[in-house]
Amino acid sequence: MMTTTAGRDATADFDPLDTTAPDVHAGLARLRAEAPVSRCPNGAWFLARFDDVLAAAKDVETFRASFREAGVVVPEEEQFVNEIPEPRHGHVRRIINSAIAQHRIGRVEPIARELCGRLLDDLLATGGGDMVARYSVPIPTTVIGHLLGAPVEDHHLWAEWSDDVVQGTYPTQYRNERGSGLAGAHPEFTAYVDDMIRVRREATVPPDDFVTRLIETEVDGRRLTDVEARTQLVFLFISGNETTRHLISNMTYVLATRPEVFAACKADGDLVQNLIEETLRLLPPIQFLMRTCTHATEVDGTAMQTDDKIAFGVASANRDETHFAEPQEFRLDRPDPRGHFGFGGGPHVCPGATLARLEARVAVETLLARVGSMRLPDDFAFEKVPVFWAYGPQTLPVTMTPATTEGES
Ligand code: HEM
Repeated sequence: MMTTTAGRDATADFDPLDTTAPDVHAGLARLRAEAPVSRCPNGAWFLARFDDVLAAAKDVETFRASFREAGVVVPEEEQFVNEIPEPRHGHVRRIINSAIAQHRIGRVEPIARELCGRLLDDLLATGGGDMVARYSVPIPTTVIGHLLGAPVEDHHLWAEWSDDVVQGTYPTQYRNERGSGLAGAHPEFTAYVDDMIRVRREATVPPDDFVTRLIETEVDGRRLTDVEARTQLVFLFISGNETTRHLISNMTYVLATRPEVFAACKADGDLVQNLIEETLRLLPPIQFLMRTCTHATEVDGTAMQTDDKIAFGVASANRDETHFAEPQEFRLDRPDPRGHFGFGGGPHVCPGATLARLEARVAVETLLARVGSMRLPDDFAFEKVPVFWAYGPQTLPVTMTPATTEGES
């Protein structure tokens, strides 16, 4: 097998895993051109090109999802769905799909629409405010809480607890001073979810909801244990929250900073779909996907060893000039708007994409219907959330005016 070290030096002055680096997109473009497979300063491999990222995402036998530190072994019960090897992954995924199936998602649209209207009324009443805290956070939190069967009054807890976990050391590390696994990482979160499971196990007639289905469905001839059910539930609360929040925030940012996009989407509601996809392409909420090599392999002639870490560059793939015309431009007229990698690809492609798109569409449609104009302060500086793989603003302090007549912008 021919191997080469070409490209390894390309990261000497640029870390593709540092999304806060100045000129990050110029750096990624250089990698795509000169070193499509390169070493990051932390030792992980980085794939910069769309075709390599897609091919590797499909090859789940060679590249296994893993956010864990090298050497961390996690009991099977505590593997999140995306870490579980096939064929068990496919079985657990089918149960998860049942929670976020089309016919269930449709039912949350009126709830999301009513919520968005209410949130905007509040924002308009104060002439604007922080769109992250007052719009992007509550929408996915409420929707995923509703789908998973958590009481409405507790929904604010998910956002807080999801943030705690995502910004903490789990799952990279398995233990902390409070204990191991998720229970050690966040005892309140796990106790709450354990209680949801216990109540349904003990009920003579459990509610017909996702948690009941999760614990009653058989996978590989047996039901999930309580710990397995908890693991997947927590993962769903987190994945249904964090990413969609950033998508809504990033779209709001685009609308607040590009009046021509605001006006175009207001004039033609069909363009909202393109706004969603183009935001996912240029500002993907998940910037990298982390994998571990299960055996020695090679990508584009670069040799990798068992247990090597590898990052799929989602944000880089989405701007690959061999794949997208004018890749750095925000365009609402792309011929294949969904052809980006924002939701991943292969067997782990996001099962929540339909739900995320629905929430994003309702959030933007409601905003465009009620808001006449929206802007950020002249001195606004986009500060990214402190999670290395995530992309979305910490705050978006907008001022806004109401739409006075239909079609006004
Ligand atoms: C804009 C919003 C979202 C984005 C950008 C996003 C992105 C992604 C990506 C890139 C993956 C692939 C991960 C990998 O290959 O390692 C993924 C997987 C996943 N997502 Fe999403 N996601 C979003 C919303 C959601 C929602 C709303 C849910 C749940 C309700 C969800 C649940 C999941 C689950 C369970 C997986 C793991 C699937 C598997 O491994 O088979 N996501 N998501």
